[in-house]
Amino acid sequence: MAKKILVTGGAGYIGSHTVLQLLEGGYSAVVVDNLDNSSAVALHRVKELAAEHGDNLSFHQVDLRDRPALEKIFSETKFDAVIHFAGLKAVGESVQRPLLYYNNNLVGTITLLEVMAKHGCKNLVFSSSATVYGWPKEVPCTEESPISALNPYGRTKLYIEEICRDVYRSDSEWKIILLRYFNPVGAHPSGYIGEDPRGIPNNLMPFVQQVAVGRRPHLTVFGNDYNTKDGTGVRDYIHVVDLADGHIAALRKLDDPKIGCEVYNLGTGKGTSVLEMVATFEKASGKKIPLVIAGRRPGDAEVVYASTARAEAELNWKAKYGIEEMCRDLWNWASKNPLGYDSSPASTN
Ligand code: NAD
Ligand code: UD1
Repeated sequence: MAKKILVTGGAGYIGSHTVLQLLEGGYSAVVVDNLDNSSAVALHRVKELAAEHGDNLSFHQVDLRDRPALEKIFSETKFDAVIHFAGLKAVGESVQRPLLYYNNNLVGTITLLEVMAKHGCKNLVFSSSATVYGWPKEVPCTEESPISALNPYGRTKLYIEEICRDVYRSDSEWKIILLRYFNPVGAHPSGYIGEDPRGIPNNLMPFVQQVAVGRRPHLTVFGNDYNTKDGTGVRDYIHVVDLADGHIAALRKLDDPKIGCEVYNLGTGKGTSVLEMVATFEKASGKKIPLVIAGRRPGDAEVVYASTARAEAELNWKAKYGIEEMCRDLWNWASKNPLGYDSSPASTN
């Protein structure tokens, strides 16, 4: 029997890529998403890409905080595990609307955990973030590095991590894997699914992508006076397909009887500057990205990259792709879908 995985936020950027890999890996996936920051088209496309496995996908347009709706889903299906992506993630918006973020991310997660416990499903993989390392005193960031938060979004990740640790301490039947993602970029190599942010993108590469297709005039570089190779911020960019793979590795790890509440970095271990990333994208796309140098963005760290040792040793997982492949696949997606999932009449299928 195929293992059944509930995927919250499965219509989103990382979720849709992970759902595809689940289906291809022989799992059956039930997606719960309110579509606040995503499109049902992504799931139609996942289904198509999964070919004969596509029938193992089902979707409920439900908000996680809607307890009766969630209860109904759990009473209809016995899940082997939950992968929990659903959450709001725009840092700037979280500063302006903290209660929205605390309500959505914390209440959503608590409701999910309560319903899971009630239905005897105590296996969870959660999307945490490298944002919990704040401005790291030392790099690479290891899972033992101090954690802190600089904004309400980051605090929701920190609090959810702590909630998960407390839940495990209170009941050792739980098995929880907290995955701290570094900077996901790129798209599925088919160019059929990818990132489609609503509004003005907060993150570097979605912004670059919109400049490349003519939706924005230039990229603003936030600071060129950092103590780095070219003065711009350094991050650990990871191909979204590698990241999705990391979730399959985490699911396999949940079968390990020794596991409690564990945390793993998902990154490449390599640091890349803003200017290096832009140059690599320009090469991959043949498009010039006009730059405007501005001051530092509040809350930005100088250099952040992962130690990957624990994930390699314990999850038996390692990122395969480099920034060339990330930029190639990002451009493939962006050029085929310049307006994201709204790009073509086919998008309504
Ligand atoms: P995304 O916005 O594309 O996906 C999140 C999905 O969750 C969306 O489809 C949204 O509609 C859904 N959602 C939000 N609140 C919901 C609710 N209350 N009920 C049901 N559905 C809800 O974001 P993503 O980039 O795919 O990120 C997935 C997860 O990974 C998030 O938790 C995010 O914080 C985390 N993360 C993302 C990054 C990144 O750079 N993309 C980095 C670190 C961590
Ligand atoms: C940001 C968030 C972090 C969140 C992560 C993933 C902040 C302060 N941090 O991290 O909490 O977990 O996204 O959602 O918002 N840059 C530019 N111009 C741009 C955009 C970015 O120069 O228009 C630079 C940034 O200064 C940084 C690098 O590009 O040096 C990467 O930025 P970004 O993609 O936003 O990721 P993080 O800063 O790592």
